[in-house]
Amino acid sequence: MKRLSLTPADTVQFSKIVRGLNFFGSMNMAMLERILEGLQLFECERGEKVCVQGEVGDTFFVVQKGSLTVAVRKGRFSLSKKVATLGPGDCFGEMALLHEAPRNATVACDEVSRLFVLPASHFRAVLAQNPDFAKEINHLASTRQSELDHKFD
Ligand code: CMP
Repeated sequence: MKRLSLTPADTVQFSKIVRGLNFFGSMNMAMLERILEGLQLFECERGEKVCVQGEVGDTFFVVQKGSLTVAVRKGRFSLSKKVATLGPGDCFGEMALLHEAPRNATVACDEVSRLFVLPASHFRAVLAQNPDFAKEINHLASTRQSELDHKFD
């Protein structure tokens, strides 16, 4: 992944995307600034794996542009199955952070993609500050968990 410099327009775009998840809630200005200071922007190549199933995860991602495939495999030697496609405005990487567990799936770029990246510490600070976001993101994670569970039925 190649780190890009984040412009004010990128930050505004990130804020607009995550508003839909109640990310900022009634957070005060100082906290909001601290969170946005931790935000990074990366560009990944086609085929690049952003998350690898079973690995430790310490970041939360929001797709700025591009397309990514979420795939999961049951056993070490079994074939992986596609679970979802993620595009602009979608987030991922929340499951490992919420459950302090390894990544549940592998997420790879279908094309050159740009991702907003937030470190776990910042993600957890938002979670602690904002119960509406916690509710929203836990709901998303449990929906995704059931999709993963049913993929091999
Ligand atoms: P995490 O387990 O941290 O890393 C892999 C990510 O893939 C996971 O968090 C979710 O964000 C994402 N993911 C897992 N299952 C699905 C799904 N069914 N639909 C969309 N995204 C998913």
